[in-house]
Amino acid sequence: MRTVTDIPILHNIPVLVRAPLNEPVENGEITSDFRLRRTIPTIKFLADAGAKVIVCGHIGREPNETLIPVYHALAKRLAHVSFSSESVGKSARAAARALFPGDILVLENLRRHKGEVENSPEFAHELAQLADIFVQDAFDTVHRRHASIIGVPTILPSYAGLLLAEEVRELSKALSPLRNSLAVIGGAKFSTKEQVIKRLLSLYENVFIGGALANDFFAAKGYNVGASLVSGGDIESVRAILNLKDKHLILPIDAYIATRDATRKQAHSGTIADISSNEAVLDVGPKTQIQLESLADNAKTILWNGPLGHYESGFTDGTKTLALAIASSSAYSIVGGGDTIAAIEELNIAEHFSFISTGGGAMLEFLTHKTLPGIEILSSVCV
Ligand code: 3PG
Ligand code: MG
Repeated sequence: MRTVTDIPILHNIPVLVRAPLNEPVENGEITSDFRLRRTIPTIKFLADAGAKVIVCGHIGREPNETLIPVYHALAKRLAHVSFSSESVGKSARAAARALFPGDILVLENLRRHKGEVENSPEFAHELAQLADIFVQDAFDTVHRRHASIIGVPTILPSYAGLLLAEEVRELSKALSPLRNSLAVIGGAKFSTKEQVIKRLLSLYENVFIGGALANDFFAAKGYNVGASLVSGGDIESVRAILNLKDKHLILPIDAYIATRDATRKQAHSGTIADISSNEAVLDVGPKTQIQLESLADNAKTILWNGPLGHYESGFTDGTKTLALAIASSSAYSIVGGGDTIAAIEELNIAEHFSFISTGGGAMLEFLTHKTLPGIEILSSVCV
């Protein structure tokens, strides 16, 4: 894969960068700059080399969402940053043409155009018209078959940004873990995690399943999970995983249990067999937390994605205990996912992890397929 450091000439060259700009916003301001911070070295590298840098990306899922808060955050960190309220068309082209070497232009949310998500060739051509070179740095979105992911690289000479290259390098290490290895998968939605669980079971000695995902496994084992969140549906696929031979799948041994609307203080701990029909599993229990601490302590490679409890309603103990256990273990640790990162940032322990991925779904899909559409296209087309 060619990266930005392989671009022969940058001075005075317009370069379109697809960046990870999908940050959480409240009251017109971003509440985390985790992804933006990680793509800044790529943008700065290009600007310092005298390129005219045109930054594009998406935010949220509603077409009316705006990248203005992300632009403000970038403008606080780098000089000569401007904003274009159009991402394609006449005014975007005029804004791009007006750039001087080292200037940075941020384009409005690409998802305002249907052509982005539909990967329309017309939209890809309009975007490509703005620049002579394309740089892909949005690891969090390279699993989507969108115009700015797989369309533009078929038109412009394309390179990986520094962040994308680092993600691929680090996550590839997670595919050859050192013994003893521990993978922890939390969160919900079995269908989106089935493939990665199977892959991790073939690579890791211990695979721990937490979060709402564990409820699917308990239900498939025949337990009554009460009002717990379950993915529903594909119980046979869950059973097929439980029936895999010689694999070490670990489920929580206890849980914090309460009614669905309860606060953390109202919850009691117990085993899954203790749950009554109006109660739900809301976090891993104290015994499981001790078990996780010892698994982390004995591991040389740890991979983790997804919260272990209902994080947004305050059931954060299990997730935070695991974060602290990984931080204090000497293992090579690779982690990712929104709530996982939120816990690490809240505890201020980011520097104790070997690598924190900017991808949630993209990280899991990369681990499953060893590549992703937006990465594949950079290696396969050489315009
Ligand atoms: C993410 O936050 O998961 C990425 O930015 C991709 O966004 P999407 O899930 O809306 O495609
Ligand atoms: Mg996502």
